[in-house]
Amino acid sequence: MTQHRTVDVGGSHLYRITIGPGLLDDGALLAATLRGDAFVVSDDAVAPLYLQRVLDALSAARPGLRIGHWTMPAGEGSKTLATFGQAIDAIASAGMRRDATVYALGGGVVGDLAGFAAAAWMRGVDCVQLPTTLLAMVDSSVGGKTAVDLPQGKNLVGAFHPPRAVLADTAALRTLPARELRAGLAEVVKYGAIVDAPFLDWLEANADALLAGDDAALAEAIARSCAHKAAIVERDPYEHGDRALLNFGHTFGHAIETSQGYGGLIHGEAVAVGMVQAALLSERLGLSSAADTARLRGLLRRFGLPVEPPPGLDPDTLLAHMRLDKKAQSGGLRFIVWDGAGRARVLAGVPESEVRAVLAG
Ligand code: NAD
Ligand code: GLY
Repeated sequence: MTQHRTVDVGGSHLYRITIGPGLLDDGALLAATLRGDAFVVSDDAVAPLYLQRVLDALSAARPGLRIGHWTMPAGEGSKTLATFGQAIDAIASAGMRRDATVYALGGGVVGDLAGFAAAAWMRGVDCVQLPTTLLAMVDSSVGGKTAVDLPQGKNLVGAFHPPRAVLADTAALRTLPARELRAGLAEVVKYGAIVDAPFLDWLEANADALLAGDDAALAEAIARSCAHKAAIVERDPYEHGDRALLNFGHTFGHAIETSQGYGGLIHGEAVAVGMVQAALLSERLGLSSAADTARLRGLLRRFGLPVEPPPGLDPDTLLAHMRLDKKAQSGGLRFIVWDGAGRARVLAGVPESEVRAVLAG
């Protein structure tokens, strides 16, 4: 029998993250928190691979269950208010009631949009996250942040809506394009960078296995990442404090994504570049050493990730996006900086001149 790993998220919203191969076919687990109807949201790359299996497994576990489903175009460009409106239309047309559960089957884009639809439909119905990318398994499916992007900035419209359960079927990673696997590794590196220096040693030692899609290495990386995310979210579900550490590299990264109109670097890649820029900023501020930055850069490079911003981005535009990023507050630019591996913190009032110097390379 295959052993599944579990990580429990405590605090005011308790739920379990289950990690292991074959979970998308496990009707009993899929339906464990289900109270009424089911509605599965996916995208047009994931649905042909996994949607029917989830529908079959749910129907087998709950004969007579009313199940609706809806599929959106794949990619960050779909994470819009317009697509959100279409999702709500589909949920309404399917007659989903207050005790319905929305299942988010896909990567972080589906998870964020379907989670937001679940938060908004009838002022909130249950959501179960079924992440199919590494990035979604280690980050976006956990913690209840849901949102869509605006042309002005990423994730600017959304809600906190914790899932009732997260089922990460690691076998789904076998169909994930290599570029997407690498992007997920950026968020895995983030946990080492912010709170777990020994995890960086482990990632360096296991880089080849992770890149080769080794099941055991990936399961370990996912479980360890989820344990960190669960601990942080449990302490600070609404990001009044520590949770902001999870945004290491994101102020720079989001500005790149927005400047590129959500059609250039994918999220994990932008975060990889952003983490190096955050390390360079920390170095400029005298908080960390050039060796710290070099180590981070080296690991991200080993994972095939970009470590420098794409050419041609305008620093003024990037700074304008940073000012509107949710990490910014009225008191000026706020960044997640580090004092070296595993020691990140929030720093407010960072002078724009220092940020400009980093952007200027
Ligand atoms: P994504 O959802 O766009 O998925 C990447 C691509 O892989 C898509 O084309 C998708 O169709 C495809 N895909 C997904 N699973 C597959 C599989 N198993 N086999 C084959 N193809 C598959 O991108 P992502 O990287 O998963 O998520 C990025 C999004 O997550 C961003 O919008 C980001 O803002 C968000 N995010 C949210 C949080 C949060 O806390 N809510 C945290 C981190 C990131
Ligand atoms: N990915 C950032 C957070 O969940 O807070």
